[in-house]
Amino acid sequence: MKQNNVIAPSILAADFARLGAEVEAVISAGAQFIHFDVMDNHYVPNLTIGPLVCSALRKHGVMADIDVHLMVKPVDRLVGDFVEAGATYISFHPEASEHVDRTLQLIRDSGCKSGLVFNPATPLDYLDFVLDKVDMVLIMAVNPGYGGQSLIPGALDKLRLARAIIDRSTLPIRLEVDGGVKVSNIGEIAAAGADTFVAGSAIFGTKDYAGTISAMYAEIENSRSV
Ligand code: DX5
Ligand code: ZN
Repeated sequence: MKQNNVIAPSILAADFARLGAEVEAVISAGAQFIHFDVMDNHYVPNLTIGPLVCSALRKHGVMADIDVHLMVKPVDRLVGDFVEAGATYISFHPEASEHVDRTLQLIRDSGCKSGLVFNPATPLDYLDFVLDKVDMVLIMAVNPGYGGQSLIPGALDKLRLARAIIDRSTLPIRLEVDGGVKVSNIGEIAAAGADTFVAGSAIFGTKDYAGTISAMYAEIENSRSV
C-alpha cells in the first residue's frame, strides 16, 4: 500500500556547525522526516555521526520523525543507543547483520519502526520471509558512503519490483529511495513507486530550501498524472 509522499532531507549535506538551525529550516520548508546517516568507517568507507547527535537534535526541540540509516557493522548494539536517542525509524543493511530477523524484531520491540536497506547489487530476496516485520524498504540508488553521487538507473527497476512486493502484501510499508535524488529526476522516481524521498545535496546545496522542497513535491504530484 502506497503511503503519503514524504521528503526526507539527509543532514549529511547540512552545515554541521549549525545543525539545529539547518534541521529547523528544512522542517519549516516542508520536509516531514529528517534522514540521519550513520557511517562507521568499516561497513562503509566514511565516518559520520552517532546517537549523541540524534539526542542533541531531540533536546534542541526537533519533533519530526528521525529516519536513522545505519551503515554500520555490527548493527544490534547501536539499535538500543538510537532508541534511547529518540530515533523514529531505524534502518539497516541486511549484509551487516548476522541475524536479520532478530535485528528487525529488536527494533520493533524497542518501539521504533524498522527498515531494511538494499544496496544497488543486493537482491530483494531478503524480504521473502520478514516482510511482516518491516515498516520501510529503502532502495539505495547509489553505493552507500558518500553524498552527492549520481543515481544508478537500475534503482528505478528495483523500485518497481519493491512496489509490487509491498502492494501484494497490503501492508503499510514505506518505500524509500536514497542517493542522487533531485528535482529533475524525482518525478520519474515517484512514478517507479517510491513514496519517501531522501535528498541531501539537492536540498542543502541550494539557498532556498522551501523553493526546492516545493518543487520536489510538485514534480511528485505531476508524475501521478503521467
Ligand atoms: C549515502 C547516504 C545518503 C546521502 C544522500 O550513503 O545514505 O543518504 O546523504 O546524499 P545525496 O542526496 O546528496 O545523494
Ligand atoms: Zn542515507
